[in-house]
Amino acid sequence: MSGLAGRTVLVVGRAGGIARAVTLAVRAAGGAVVVAGRDPEALAAAYDDPGISAERVDLTDEGSVAALAGRLGRVDHVVSAASARARGAVGDLDHAAVLTALAVKVAGPILLAKHFAPRMPADGSFVLFSGSSSRRPAAGMLAVAATNGAVDVVARSLAVELAPIRVNAVSPGTIDTGAYDGLGDQRKAALFATRAATSPARRIGVAADVAGAVVYALTSTFVTGTVLDVDGGEPLA
Ligand SMILES: NC(=O)c1ccc[n+]([C@@H]2O[C@H](COP(=O)([O-])OP(=O)(O)OC[C@H]3O[C@@H](n4cnc5c(N)ncnc54)[C@H](OP(=O)(O)O)[C@@H]3O)[C@@H](O)[C@H]2O)c1
Repeated sequence: MSGLAGRTVLVVGRAGGIARAVTLAVRAAGGAVVVAGRDPEALAAAYDDPGISAERVDLTDEGSVAALAGRLGRVDHVVSAASARARGAVGDLDHAAVLTALAVKVAGPILLAKHFAPRMPADGSFVLFSGSSSRRPAAGMLAVAATNGAVDVVARSLAVELAPIRVNAVSPGTIDTGAYDGLGDQRKAALFATRAATSPARRIGVAADVAGAVVYALTSTFVTGTVLDVDGGEPLA
């Protein structure tokens, strides 16, 4: 295992949550970070560190991904932490929302691989984001689970196709990143209390739990084609 000194890591996602924790963990491991998302001004404003620069990318737009790859040239590692969740019972699912979820979280990493892998060193790697809902079907989570399951397949397939560039996925459980704020305070607190009570880890995860696994995947040169579960054992409960 080696650190990330002298390496550049592209982190696609928002200014907070898991993407932020990953960015800070990569910096702590000595790497430089390019954070990229749909709002580069917000990303730039979120950090005060010459080792972090901000760029624009929309993962649903191949031209945008290709342009980013052209602007950056070589990067050593790519982390795709973007998502657009399509929650809801099957009867309520909006077709366009399902397609957007797949476009961001499944097709997006495929586009990143298409445009960045040719510019990456042989010891580079990708980390994609899956999620534990694919292992524990629940009403209202069909499209989220299907998206996550597809990410696992993309990671394994790319690991074979892009070798020796490594490709792994990280699969978080319930992580308090703000992703559940839309439920409102009461429903969110009730959900977190239930999950914390039943999860073998007996708590909800924090973004730093996930960032540690991402740095492990980036730096472990004999780990590829795997899905790292960082879920407190939630699917077992
Ligand atoms: N939090 C959890 O409990 C949990 C559980 C399982 C899996 N995960 C996965 O872990 C990753 C990070 O989760 P998180 O909770 O920290 O963040 P998140 O709330 O899922 O945020 C993902 C961000 O992706 C960005 N995004 C959406 N569409 C995009 C597009 N077309 N191009 C580029 N960026 C786009 C959005 O940022 P902007 O709005 O700024 O554009 C969005 O806020 C995600 O892949 C998520 O699915 C999280």
